[in-house]
Amino acid sequence: MSIETRPQRLSVTRIKSRKGGDKLVCLTAYTASVARQLDEEVDLLLVGDSLAMVVYGFDSTLPVTLDMMVAHGGAVVRATHHAVVVVDLPFGSYQASPQDAFRAAARVMAETQCNAVKLEGGEEMAETVAFLVKRGIPVMGHVGLTPQAVNQLGGYRSRGHEAAERRKILADGAAICDAGAFSLVVEGVNEGLARELTAAVAVPTIGIGASPACDGQILVTDDMLGVYAEFTPKFVKRYRRLGDDIRAAAREYADDVRTGRFPAPEHTYTAPAKRAKAAAH
Ligand code: KIV
Repeated sequence: MSIETRPQRLSVTRIKSRKGGDKLVCLTAYTASVARQLDEEVDLLLVGDSLAMVVYGFDSTLPVTLDMMVAHGGAVVRATHHAVVVVDLPFGSYQASPQDAFRAAARVMAETQCNAVKLEGGEEMAETVAFLVKRGIPVMGHVGLTPQAVNQLGGYRSRGHEAAERRKILADGAAICDAGAFSLVVEGVNEGLARELTAAVAVPTIGIGASPACDGQILVTDDMLGVYAEFTPKFVKRYRRLGDDIRAAAREYADDVRTGRFPAPEHTYTAPAKRAKAAAH
């Protein structure tokens, strides 16, 4: 009999207990191959609905479906054993009622075996967050710049610079955390507001374009790797330019194929009789 020695996956309660402690490190992941590389380096992987833009080439997150989130969420969970995996609820699957949200979230949890779901919105979503949490579904909130509301917000500009909007974002964050969310993504707000919100809520804030004042940080992995190069927001730090590497590799491969350098003998199967003859010489 063999004994399982693999360390256990982090839990949402461990993430919650890191409020004000060591910074939480989070990235997005959409596929098994990339999730496997990121898993042991981060605390939390988000299967974000940003996959609509990054993987599927849409120009907003709105067209993503529950089926897509389930397929990618399951792939990321199966490929990982360390990080907490959170899956975004897609636009239209949770806003109409807490019951709709429960059906969507329960399907995501059961079919992907992820640790939690994330949903966007503030005071208007607090009842839904409480409904899910009371029924055993851990929820991560998302306030500030909420991409699913891009049509209402009029674009992807940072938010909360005027007093009224600032007060609204503070109230949104507080409502979601009071409703039972275990953490809160804060997107596209200035440092003063991020600091005030982080001080006001009892759970970790995870910033994206929200300054170092948050309890943790998240980036879209393809942005920080330089794979998704269509547009680079101010808050993204590019750690690599893998898009350039992919293009260069494709160019070398094309050249090898066209000139006959690939496949070489070492990439080519030979018949057993020929192999034996070659070994005897
Ligand atoms: O969908 C996503 O990738 C997100 C992050 C930007 C937080 O929600």
